Amino acid sequence: MAILITGGAGYIGSHTCVELLSAGYEIIVLDNFSNSKPESLNRVKELTGKDFMFYEVDLLDRIGLEGVFQNHSIDAVIHFAGLKAVGESVSIPLHYYHNNITGTLILCDVMKKYGVKDLVFSSSATVYGMPERMPISEDFPLSATNPYGRTKLMIEEILRDLYVADNSWSIALLRYFNPIGAHESGRIGEDPNGIPNNLMPFITQVAVGKLKELQVFGSDYPTVDGSGVRDYIHVVDLALGHLKALERVVSSTGVDAFNLGTGTGYSVLEMVADFEKASGRKVPYKIVDRRPGDVAVCYADPFKAKNELGWTAERGIEDMCKDSWRWQEKNPNGFETKVLIDKNNK
Ligand code: WQD
Repeated sequence: MAILITGGAGYIGSHTCVELLSAGYEIIVLDNFSNSKPESLNRVKELTGKDFMFYEVDLLDRIGLEGVFQNHSIDAVIHFAGLKAVGESVSIPLHYYHNNITGTLILCDVMKKYGVKDLVFSSSATVYGMPERMPISEDFPLSATNPYGRTKLMIEEILRDLYVADNSWSIALLRYFNPIGAHESGRIGEDPNGIPNNLMPFITQVAVGKLKELQVFGSDYPTVDGSGVRDYIHVVDLALGHLKALERVVSSTGVDAFNLGTGTGYSVLEMVADFEKASGRKVPYKIVDRRPGDVAVCYADPFKAKNELGWTAERGIEDMCKDSWRWQEKNPNGFETKVLIDKNNK
């Protein structure tokens, strides 16, 4: 079975490629490297000992995308490709709407043309907006508080309308909570451009000496220690959730949303303490004001994915911290090599 992975060179995409190849799937990777590096795909080949076709194509390039569908008999698509920085989306909303939504519209139109109607979509817990209670289940009200979140919400609605118009589609909407960690080899991991927005890559860059100190955004939230609480999930568990969702979409029809989270929340200060214990490194920090737009607490009810996909997260916070540190320590400057050694793109 041949699976097209859009955004397959990215953080979650590359980890999902490793698990798909290890499970015996044939994969075709498409990426434009706007927020990833070719080296990550070299490492995927190294880790799995498997080769795969890769195309440096942007989803907005319909001709290039059709070429991929003409060259391969694709059975299903896992769609990661998209811009995902909340703050950036506020400053350049049109770029986010065009890249994320138009790109998805073109992808779905080309899928339809070539009779490919099984899709796993990378959504986000951000579609829950500011929930009134915890834990969050899939039937909670949906809203968005920034253009990035609105692209995810709009794409979910577009995909639901697509199924209403054609019941032969099979779509899984995967709502990620907070992905962190890295493959246990330390050979692939999160490699953000510039100063990290997210907590864990910021912590690891402080620990490795690239950044001076962590700014803790707020200590006056109604939480165990006043700092924000989130549902951190190991990226390998997240990748394995995609394989379960893939099994579902190729064997059924319909549109369904699933939370991919652990169901457990950790505060920022707990994460710092757990990371220091797991890595043996100090993480100096300073408490500063809350970050606008942050919610106090956010964690999943993961029951539906367990019940309907047969998936639960298995890796704990110690694994997440140890694996995050191993990746950073082994790769202080992320993926440095720029050239894909055996680029297959046509
Ligand atoms: C986690 C906690 C911060 C950085 C975001 C996106 C979401 C999804 C995951 C794409 C919060 C605190 C953070 C720092 C800090 N991305 N923090 N200092 O905001 O929960 O979710 O990433 O789908 O859409 O919104 O993740 O890692 O930015 O923050 O104190 O330097 O760490 O306040 O409590 P977030 P995060």
